[in-house]
Amino acid sequence: MLIQIPEVLSQEEVVQFRNELDSTDWVDGKVTAGYQSARVKDNMQLPDTSPVAISLGQRIVQALHRNPLFISAALPAKIFPPLFNRYDGGHAFGNHVDNSIRRIPMTGEQIRTDLSVTLFLSSPEEYDGGELIIDDTYGAHSIKLPAGHMVLYPSTSLHRVLPVTRGSRVSSFFWLQSMIRHDAHRTLLLNLDVAIQKVGMDMEKHPSLVELTGIYHNLLREWAEV
Ligand code: NI
Repeated sequence: MLIQIPEVLSQEEVVQFRNELDSTDWVDGKVTAGYQSARVKDNMQLPDTSPVAISLGQRIVQALHRNPLFISAALPAKIFPPLFNRYDGGHAFGNHVDNSIRRIPMTGEQIRTDLSVTLFLSSPEEYDGGELIIDDTYGAHSIKLPAGHMVLYPSTSLHRVLPVTRGSRVSSFFWLQSMIRHDAHRTLLLNLDVAIQKVGMDMEKHPSLVELTGIYHNLLREWAEV
């Protein structure tokens, strides 16, 4: 499932992030690309050892852990330290599927990429083009979100970034391993969680809420790998 998570960062945080990102050194984005995607990838990135990338990445992970929709939708087990990229002057990233296994540079720990994340750090008015296009069984989805908003999508998806023809598109991107490996199971759990919360808001004391919450946790127990 493809899901948008609004306001992961506040507007003040976006301004702070951009001030730091706009005054640091960027390198060719091919550094984190696999063999195939290196041929279609044309953008700039912060090195994963960059102190700016490390500190801003930690702030993103902290913000995610405070975000109930993210937790409910992703059910994260391991989050890759966020990376940062910039597209300008015609930069683009052609069609590709992200690598299935990634090694976390600092710890050497491996994660299976179940979900891919793009957190937008430029507002849509700042640039032309640069849409993230994600293919799924319902067709191609074009994603261009306000700064501070994020999209979460299955890492199994073919996706691409269209050429940026004006301005700069700055974003953070990373992957995560979910406790729930299968997208269909994760989607069921999110839908159940949302439905339980809606019933809870309408009928706070309904006795079946306890049973439904029990079913949610028992499904999670059945499927989770921790
Ligand atoms: Ni990708």
